[in-house]
Amino acid sequence: MRRKLITGNWKMNGGLASNAALLSAVKSELGQPSCQVAVCAPAPYLAQCQQLLSGTQVAWGAQDVSAHDAGAYTGEVSAAMVKDFDCAYVIVGHSERRAYHGESDETVGRKAARAIAAGLIPIACVGETLAEREAGQTEQVVQRQLDAVLAQLAGNDLAKLVVAYEPVWAIGTGKTATPQMAQDVHAFLRGRIAARDAQAASGIQILYGGSMKPDNAAELLAMSDIDGGLIGGAALKATDFLAIVRAAA
Ligand code: PGA
Repeated sequence: MRRKLITGNWKMNGGLASNAALLSAVKSELGQPSCQVAVCAPAPYLAQCQQLLSGTQVAWGAQDVSAHDAGAYTGEVSAAMVKDFDCAYVIVGHSERRAYHGESDETVGRKAARAIAAGLIPIACVGETLAEREAGQTEQVVQRQLDAVLAQLAGNDLAKLVVAYEPVWAIGTGKTATPQMAQDVHAFLRGRIAARDAQAASGIQILYGGSMKPDNAAELLAMSDIDGGLIGGAALKATDFLAIVRAAA
């Protein structure tokens, strides 16, 4: 039985004071969650997360990491640097990175491999645009994106991977994939991983992301291949985030 994972993706939001208020509210109301809980913060706040979340039920992570190891890459943050702040996770290949920063499938795969080499769990995002869905290309697109990640990982690294299915048309738009639409893609992704390693496929967590909210979380999380959520907007409000955590119980 896979444990569920609810991860906030704060994107480029927050500040020292508002992060402290959000995390304090989450910590005080969380209790003993039956699912895993994490927040992915902007890089400058990873030290704050480490300070405020160490020893709690909430893990933390980054939102991106360099595909390079170290060196003359001004502005980049390496996986080892992220790991220095005891991060458990790092998001790679979010659709906003792919769309606004030109990240290719291959770059995303290299980032996932760097993350694993540094001891982080990459949350590798895949998802189709509205035009791709309407053209009937959803499976083709997510397969291409997933395969590029799998291609960079050694066999025994598969167990250290989390996948997030985030249909681009559902992110921040208020439009959510129906539970069945999401389940179909999740099952497809798991099947694709199973073709390489059946045992790893049955253990791997596949999260759904894209306008997951307190009022739709329970029905999405009830689907057999939906193992959690990557939560954007709703992760910025403690009450909403906690309601989604409870829906995963
Ligand atoms: P959203 O974002 O929940 O605001 O749609 C999800 C994401 O982009 O990870």
